[in-house]
Amino acid sequence: AKVAVMFGGRSAEREVSLRSGKAVLAALQDAGINAFAFDPKEQPLASLSADKVFIVLHGRGGEDGTMQGALQQLGLPYTGSGVLGSALAMDKIRCKWLFQAQGLPTAPFLVVRPGDTDYAAMLQQLGGKVMVKPANEGSSIGMSAASNAAELATAIATAHQYDQEVLVERWIDGREFTIAILNDQVLPIVEMRTPRAFYDYEAKYQANSTEYLCPAPLTAELTAAMQQSALAAFKAVGASGWGRVDLMLDQSGQHYLLEVNTVPGMTEKSLVPMAAKAAGYSFQQLVLAILQQADS
Ligand code: DAL
Ligand code: MG
Repeated sequence: AKVAVMFGGRSAEREVSLRSGKAVLAALQDAGINAFAFDPKEQPLASLSADKVFIVLHGRGGEDGTMQGALQQLGLPYTGSGVLGSALAMDKIRCKWLFQAQGLPTAPFLVVRPGDTDYAAMLQQLGGKVMVKPANEGSSIGMSAASNAAELATAIATAHQYDQEVLVERWIDGREFTIAILNDQVLPIVEMRTPRAFYDYEAKYQANSTEYLCPAPLTAELTAAMQQSALAAFKAVGASGWGRVDLMLDQSGQHYLLEVNTVPGMTEKSLVPMAAKAAGYSFQQLVLAILQQADS
């Protein structure tokens, strides 16, 4: 069978996808699989000739259900979440509405659209310090923290460069974690520690100062509670196959769901491979386990 590994794409996360995709392609080829690269930015989808598709596109156009729908129309099986789960997980606002509807813990937030300018009221409502995010981005692109009206105006303007809808979330003062899900298995928790203000693009991909702990040093009770929330969040948005749920834990021991990623980073240094390794999977075994999703 011929496997197209789709990576690159047109989103703001193109560079990350190129790194993820190259690692996945190499692992498949090392395993003797007839795999090749397909970049939907460079090649028209109509020229695709493959038996199945391994999706390693991050962000819009690849992780948001549109490619999943196109492949479905072409009758091509693909890895990971379907149309609905991909589309919902891409949208941080609708993700959080679903978490709330399911009674899952997530930080209080506001949705800000162009023209909403009552920054003082927003800060007051959310407790003085906030995190601002474009609704449909990844890798912390367009995100910044704010603790006064001027900073908030700038942060919202930055996020609006990427999206009409912007999420302004109460700042959680605490530790950052991520939980990978492979098929229905919840993998060991990863904790990310950065000296930077938060785990931003630079901390994710450029800084050598980020520390990763896996399994995260947490009590058995907290580990179980956070893993349960992560799996429930994954299911709430209709995600399937594999993915990664990001969370925070505040000083009082309360955890908060941030979001679900349906095509998380897959560079050799990424978090899902790290969690998989702690569960006994090599990078290649992880890639092969994901590939199998395109068979069912
Ligand atoms: N959006 C990036 C690729 C991640 O979640 O890993
Ligand atoms: Mg994300």
